[in-house]
Amino acid sequence: MTLRSGGRLIRSGARRVQVGPERAVRAAPLPIVTTMTWLVTGGAGYIGAHVVAAMTAGGEQVVALDDLSTGDPARVAGTPLVVASVADDLAVREAIATHGVTGVVHLAGKKSVAESMGEPLRYYQENVEGLRALLAAATGSGVRHFVFSSSAAVYGSPDVDLVTEATPCRPVNPYGESKLVGEWLLADVGRATGLAHVSLRYFNVAGAARPELADTTVANLVTQVFARLDAGLAPLVFGGDHPTPDGTCIRDFVHAADIADAHVAAARALSAGRISSGQLNIGRGVGVSVQDMCRLILDVVSADLGDVPQPEVVAARAGDPARVVSSAARAQELLGWRATRDVAEMVRSAWAGWRHQAAARQLLPG
Ligand SMILES: NC(=O)c1ccc[n+]([C@@H]2O[C@H](COP(=O)([O-])OP(=O)(O)OC[C@H]3O[C@@H](n4cnc5c(N)ncnc54)[C@H](O)[C@@H]3O)[C@@H](O)[C@H]2O)c1
Repeated sequence: MTLRSGGRLIRSGARRVQVGPERAVRAAPLPIVTTMTWLVTGGAGYIGAHVVAAMTAGGEQVVALDDLSTGDPARVAGTPLVVASVADDLAVREAIATHGVTGVVHLAGKKSVAESMGEPLRYYQENVEGLRALLAAATGSGVRHFVFSSSAAVYGSPDVDLVTEATPCRPVNPYGESKLVGEWLLADVGRATGLAHVSLRYFNVAGAARPELADTTVANLVTQVFARLDAGLAPLVFGGDHPTPDGTCIRDFVHAADIADAHVAAARALSAGRISSGQLNIGRGVGVSVQDMCRLILDVVSADLGDVPQPEVVAARAGDPARVVSSAARAQELLGWRATRDVAEMVRSAWAGWRHQAAARQLLPG
C-alpha cells in the first residue's frame, strides 16, 4: 500500500482474494485507484461517527449520510453530512455524484434484537430494503467498493468455543436474519456487478473514543447497566445457570474505536484490491462474563455515584446463547487489524460518554 503526501490512497496491482467462506474467487485485472471518497451511511450514529473520525484521521475523504432517526449531527461536526434516508434513491445518487463517491461504508440500520422480535417488518424494511435501495443507487452510480456493518447475530447460538467465519450462520431473531440476508444480497450484487465488498461481523461493541461519540441507546449490556444505575435500580443479569464458569453469559466485547480502525483497514484492503468479497469477524477473541463486566461497570460507576445497587439475576432470555466469542484471526491475517483496547477502557470511556450526554441533555431547553 502506498500513501502519497496528501494522505490519498494510490494502489493497484495486488490480486484480489476471497475473505469469507464464499468460494467464487474473482481475479480480474485491476484498475488503478487514484482517489477514494467514502460515503458513510449512518455516519451520525454511535459506530458510524467513530468510523467517520477514524477514516478522516487516516487521510480518507469522507461524506456522511444519515436520516438522523437515532443519529446526532454534532457527532460529525466538520464532516459533510447529507441528511437523507439510504432508501432515498435520488438523494443517494446526488450525494455520490456531488462528492465523487467511489466507496460506501454502510452502517445505517436498526440494531435492537428485542425490537426486531416485535417489529420484524420494520427490520426487514430498514435493514434489507434499505440495503437493496442503497446498492441499486451505488452500483448505478459507479461505486466500486462496499463495506457492510453485519453482526455476530448472524451466528445465532453457535455451539463452539471460538466462532470463525466458517461457523454455520443460524440467526435466532429477525435482527440477525436481516443482517444475514443483507450479506447474501451484497454477495449476489458483488457477483453480478463486480462490486468489491466485505461484511464486517461486529461482536459486542462498547466504549467511546471521545465522550461526544458515546452510545446513547440502551441496546447493549454496558448502557443498559448505566441506565438502571442512573435510575437507582439494580442492573439485571439474564440467567445465572448457563453452562459457564460463573453461570452468566460470556461475550466478546470490542471497543468502538477498534471497530472503526477495522473499517479503515477494510476500506484500504478493498481499494488496494487485497480483498474482493466475503465476511470477517470483528472482535477481540476474548470472552468476558456478564458478571465480570457488571463488576467492572459497578466499580467505575460507584466511584462517581457512591453506593449503587448490586446486580440482580433474573430468568435467562429465550435464545440467549451461553457463549459467543470470536476468532479474530482472519481479520488479522487479511486486514492486519486487531483490537488493542481492553474492557476496562471500554467501560471507563463509555461511562465518561454517558455522563457527558446526560449533562448535555440537561442543558437543552424544555
Ligand atoms: N452497536 C452494536 O453493538 C452493533 C453490533 C453489531 C452490528 N451493529 C450494526 O452497526 C450499525 C451501526 O450501529 P450503531 O450502534 O452505531 O447504531 P446507531 O443507531 O447509533 O446508528 C445508526 C445510524 O443510522 C442512521 N439511520 C438509521 N436508518 C437510516 C436510514 N434508513 N437512512 C439513513 N440513516 C439511517 C441513524 O440515524 C443512526 O445515526 C448498525 O447497522 C448495527 O446493526 C451494531
